Amino acid sequence: MPATVVTGSSRGIGRAIAERFAADGYDVAVNYHTSADAAETVARAVREHGVEATVVGADVSDPEEADRLVESATEAFGGVDHVVNNAGIDQHRYTAELDPADFDRIMDVNVNSAFNVTKAALPALRESTDAPSVTNVSSILAHTGAPIECHYASSKGALLSLTRSHASDFAPEIRVNAVAPGHVETDMTDDRSPEEKREELAAIPVGRYGQPPDIADAVAYLRDATFVTGETLNVNGGELMC
Ligand SMILES: NC(=O)c1ccc[n+]([C@@H]2O[C@H](COP(=O)([O-])OP(=O)(O)OC[C@H]3O[C@@H](n4cnc5c(N)ncnc54)[C@H](OP(=O)(O)O)[C@@H]3O)[C@@H](O)[C@H]2O)c1
Repeated sequence: MPATVVTGSSRGIGRAIAERFAADGYDVAVNYHTSADAAETVARAVREHGVEATVVGADVSDPEEADRLVESATEAFGGVDHVVNNAGIDQHRYTAELDPADFDRIMDVNVNSAFNVTKAALPALRESTDAPSVTNVSSILAHTGAPIECHYASSKGALLSLTRSHASDFAPEIRVNAVAPGHVETDMTDDRSPEEKREELAAIPVGRYGQPPDIADAVAYLRDATFVTGETLNVNGGELMC
């Protein structure tokens, strides 16, 4: 059975991606950083689809831990066919109050992790016969910027450059794409006041927030779309066109 590694799949969008790959017949390496119990719950949901799951605690911003994640997946499944670099963190702070260490941490978790895990998985991906792919989870803020989270927006912009660079580096064997979600209801976005929510919703033409399966659908498309590489799929309810 083909196998995938989904970073940051203990919660939110990563969880939905893990369950979508399982429903599509893929074994899944469920990765977490702090939410061990939640990751075990995701693994049980994955196994309900009749595929295998392995749970790996690893801070993927650390190259050695990223190596260990990929090694664990390779040992469990005999190979890795797809990687989804989804792990990410956010912080709301204007530049004047932003500590350089916070800027570095966001870049480490949101960008360096994708480099680390992709590099670790390269040998396995090159051996895959399942049209191997890497999908990086960016953000609408890569395009728009964001005054209160310049480091987060910068990290997501860097992911798009990494995506195009890796797409040409790894062609023709491995396709590399990005998905750029708009506002999706997860723990990351549950700090909004009712007024902020009204403002955000008014800017989304389809009139609702995204849900994690909306993003999982896009990742599954990119996994299967063998004529698509180096692209960014924007999934935002029309918000980017406004
Ligand atoms: N929600 C949105 O509106 C939105 C919009 C655009 C893009 N995105 C992007 O989508 C991705 C998922 O976001 P989400 O909303 O699902 O966030 P979330 O609910 O906060 O979940 C974040 C996930 O990332 C994991 N993680 C964080 N740091 C990690 C690290 N160092 N190593 C390994 N895993 C780590 C967390 O694991 P633990 O729980 O184990 O710590 C968790 O599973 C992120 O890259 C985010 O930037 C989200």
